[in-house]
Amino acid sequence: MMKEVKEAFLFVFSYHFWRMGLWSIALVYSYLQLHKARIFGSIYKARLFGSKYTPISGSIDPKIRSSRPICVITGATSGLGKATAFVLAEKGFHVILVGRSSQLLSETLEEIKSKNKDAQLKSFQVDMSSFESIFKFKSSLEQWLSDAELHPSIQILVNNAGIMAISSRPTTEGYDRMIATNYVGPFCLTKLLLPLLKNSSVPSRVVNVTSFTHRYASIGKFDKDSVSGVHTSTLNKYPYARAYEYSKLCLLLFSYELHRQLRLTDDSHHVSVIAADPGFAKTKIMREYPTYITAMAFLGFKTLGLLQTPEEGAESIVDAALAPPEISGAYYFGGKGRTIESSKVSRDLKLGQQLWETSCDLLNELQHLHHNN
Ligand SMILES: NC(=O)c1ccc[n+]([C@@H]2O[C@H](COP(=O)([O-])OP(=O)(O)OC[C@H]3O[C@@H](n4cnc5c(N)ncnc54)[C@H](OP(=O)(O)O)[C@@H]3O)[C@@H](O)[C@H]2O)c1
Repeated sequence: MMKEVKEAFLFVFSYHFWRMGLWSIALVYSYLQLHKARIFGSIYKARLFGSKYTPISGSIDPKIRSSRPICVITGATSGLGKATAFVLAEKGFHVILVGRSSQLLSETLEEIKSKNKDAQLKSFQVDMSSFESIFKFKSSLEQWLSDAELHPSIQILVNNAGIMAISSRPTTEGYDRMIATNYVGPFCLTKLLLPLLKNSSVPSRVVNVTSFTHRYASIGKFDKDSVSGVHTSTLNKYPYARAYEYSKLCLLLFSYELHRQLRLTDDSHHVSVIAADPGFAKTKIMREYPTYITAMAFLGFKTLGLLQTPEEGAESIVDAALAPPEISGAYYFGGKGRTIESSKVSRDLKLGQQLWETSCDLLNELQHLHHNN
């Protein structure tokens, strides 16, 4: 008991606990931007696939069945990912649920099916912090598309899986687990699934689920140790708040850099990239925190009128997924198809390129390791 009281005391009086308090200011700032946007009326209402799915058509091998557009959602077994899966299944997508627990995956599949008999679903067990697991997923997905005689493409990838860790736990590759799950994993998965997105006969899209907390992240320069989180995890005290902000800023810099790269190389502007910020939603994201801290956070945000249900939080993700195909490089926040500006640092071209190059080097190393095993 004394040990728990001491731990609680140390937690509440730690620098990182109070840093998290600042996140509410970033959230309020984002909502203020929404009010500003309302004045200028920048609302996008159109939908990429309309309210129901459009069968893929065009020059597809007739032996391959025309089908519903396919949407891959990571972290689909809880909170925002699960709420997004419900909506996109309802909109007529064939939803690929990606999660780390096979039990939770089958429960989620059953839950969606029980509410929507028409839902087309498939699940894959993938650990987004393990590159071995991500590589395997790519092969399994391609195999499944082929076995099911579906067109070898996907239409939407939602990188939603994420954690808020409070201690450093290295992955098998020696990376920091939170940075690996929230950034390096989604980077690798996107790069590996890009050929399937490019192969789509209708415009396709990557949606990266980031966070308002990115506004506090500060970055000097990127190198392999910082991007893999090795540097962070070897610090005396694990800077959990800073590491979370950092992972979300990386995901955002990556989103904009991928958007730029695709605009430069893809003449047809076929694959678009959008960041989605759900605001603050009552999910299991703070599961590692002491329960009294989570309760305090929920109460604080509720008092401010900023606490949302997972369904409300998922609105910005759904908006990003269904936005018109010409929209790319945007930051969706607040639902109702609204966008705001992310931080100035997140738009830094040089940082974006540096992160891109470092991340590509890491991916090459990981692929090399994978092939040699
Ligand atoms: N909730 C918020 O207020 C908020 C605000 C801003 C941004 N976000 C972001 O929104 C995303 C979704 O979070 P949430 O709030 O819905 O939290 P959540 O309820 O904890 O859901 C997180 C999901 O990610 C999955 N996941 C975690 N680690 C994984 C791994 N290594 N491999 C595969 N899947 C993994 C979890 O799987 P299990 O079910 O097996 O645990 C779960 O399905 C995260 O990226 C988070 O950073 C959330």
